Amino acid sequence: MINTKYPSRRMRRLRSQPWIRDIIEENNVQINDLIWPVFVIDGENKCESIDSMPDVMRYPVDILIKEVKQARALGINAIALFPITSPDKKTDDGRESYNPDNLICRAIKAIKDAVPDIGIITDVALDPYTTHGHDGLIENGVVLNDPTVELLCKQALVQAKAGADIIAPSDMMDGRIGAIRSALDQNGYQDVMILSYAAKYASSFYGPFRDAVQSSGCLSGDKKTYQMNPANSDEALHEVALDLNEGADMVMIKPAMPYLDIITRVKNEFKVPTFAYQVSGEYAMIRAACDNGWLEHDATLMESMIAFKRAGADGVLTYFARDIAKILHK
Ligand code: PBG
Repeated sequence: MINTKYPSRRMRRLRSQPWIRDIIEENNVQINDLIWPVFVIDGENKCESIDSMPDVMRYPVDILIKEVKQARALGINAIALFPITSPDKKTDDGRESYNPDNLICRAIKAIKDAVPDIGIITDVALDPYTTHGHDGLIENGVVLNDPTVELLCKQALVQAKAGADIIAPSDMMDGRIGAIRSALDQNGYQDVMILSYAAKYASSFYGPFRDAVQSSGCLSGDKKTYQMNPANSDEALHEVALDLNEGADMVMIKPAMPYLDIITRVKNEFKVPTFAYQVSGEYAMIRAACDNGWLEHDATLMESMIAFKRAGADGVLTYFARDIAKILHK
């Protein structure tokens, strides 16, 4: 038993010099931990900025390829793609989501061609494609579960066919992981991985994302009938257990910083690859404070990352991925 009595036990001894602090560090952040979420738009040669997310761009495919090449050169292993669907392609039923020639499929093919050694994660959910902005089909104001799951399977299949490495359902319908797993298996995509947004909370921190994908203007109501209540924690374990049983290879907790306790519980309970999504609102908050000179940029980013690692996350989706990679290269 170590001596626990002051003054013979002095905790500050181990903090006295940088070198000893470095040796005894319990957790560290690596470039390997980073996944970069990116927004794709139609068109060529012209990016669009997003007011609430400074320096995050909507990229047309031609520019995106160059950006992804640079991200790969920085050491980033995977990207998560999110499409911005032009308003004329949005419908009540979101049918553009499973058009094999839609923007996301074209982006997957182009990136696979140009940067074959980066992992491509694609989002499965209807919200970028629906006029009402919900992640599922709606009837009499109710978001329908099973009919939505059928469409999600079709969406997953066109993405897998286009070359997606990891399918990431972010819709929170019940039973979708099992249905997507069987659809993939039956069509020869048994090697395509599934990263389930297993514990996705109905969070205010998604605001800037909804601006980015232009779904906020049309969103009628909230997403509380499918995304989780921020007050709940045991429920997250049930969600994760179900998704793992249905065939998820990895699970995600979202948002990240306000839900560190959930990351820890999930990692401790299931010991599977667990990801944290530092979402758009977290990005906006940190950037706003840094841009005002209220927080120190590099140190704040690294502290947020180490918090995710300490909580138990194996990987982190973050709009800061390239910034963090650059800091780690310094
Ligand atoms: C929707 C989806 C959302 C995000 C990723 N996929 C928002 C929502 O549920 O409305 C949010 C990501 C972020 O805020 O960065 N399928």
